[in-house]
Amino acid sequence: MTMPVTRPAPPPAGPRRNVVYLDWEREFLPWLTGKLRRVDRDGERIPLAPAWKPGEHWALVGPTGEGKSTLAVGTLKLRKWVLALDPKGEDETLAASGYVRVTGLPPRKRFPKEVQKDLDEGRPVHLIVGAQARTDQEDLALQELMRDAITYARHSGGWTLYVDEFELLSSQRMFRLGPNIERMLITARRDKTSVITSFQAAAWVSKHATRQATFCCIFPTRDRNMIKAVAESMGRDWRTLADIVDELPPFHVLVIHKNIRAPMVMTKAPKVA
Ligand SMILES: Nc1ncnc2c1ncn2[C@@H]1O[C@H](COP(=O)(O)OP(=O)(O)O)[C@@H](O)[C@H]1O
Ligand SMILES: [Mg+2]
Repeated sequence: MTMPVTRPAPPPAGPRRNVVYLDWEREFLPWLTGKLRRVDRDGERIPLAPAWKPGEHWALVGPTGEGKSTLAVGTLKLRKWVLALDPKGEDETLAASGYVRVTGLPPRKRFPKEVQKDLDEGRPVHLIVGAQARTDQEDLALQELMRDAITYARHSGGWTLYVDEFELLSSQRMFRLGPNIERMLITARRDKTSVITSFQAAAWVSKHATRQATFCCIFPTRDRNMIKAVAESMGRDWRTLADIVDELPPFHVLVIHKNIRAPMVMTKAPKVA
């Protein structure tokens, strides 16, 4: 004789809801600006994390060449005043962005006339700060320039600061600006200044920068330590995260919001012309 067996109902079969793919133009940018708050997928409404507000920071984590600067340039289009620190003076993606390169900032140096005019008349201004340095003297000048740029952004407020190669800027041997940027991450929120930092080596992923970040992006990587660092600062399970990162196609990125109940977002930024 067979007994009737009652089993618990199986979980509803369905696509994984902890990751939502957002099309860059149609969904991702509208999400960041607050125009898109939820998406429909297979008949289900999925609420997204809150939009990107002034004073909220990003951390971009991934090996070189995976699309960090490309994502930064695409995202920074949403901001009116942008300073991109290019400590090597040779980032090709930044160079292709059309930003104006400056090698000095107020109060030490004046901006080029057209830049100052745009600022005075309230038009958007996107600047790259940095130059190649070959001699010891140029090295020193570049260090001073990076320090000036951070101070300028901190004092004048309203800017979004993109710190490419954060590890280089914070390195003891090179720029020693880690503490300056960390201080800025904390005070910036109040001043409505957002900071986007980018990292390419797991050992250098600053706990400070990732913990202060509202949005943390991870790019395709096999580096488990990198994934663990991101998972830990964003309060996610690293194995789950690793499974998703392993499936990221080239140039795709996983955007993790600090709100752990919000779904993670997968997208791909367009190549900078
Ligand atoms: N979505 C994309 N489609 C095609 N090429 C891309 C895309 N994103 C980045 N690339 C290319 O990959 C290279 C590295 O991108 P970049 O954003 O500079 O990476 P990273 O800053 O992580 O080193 C660049 O030549 C860039 O044009
Ligand atoms: Mg880059």
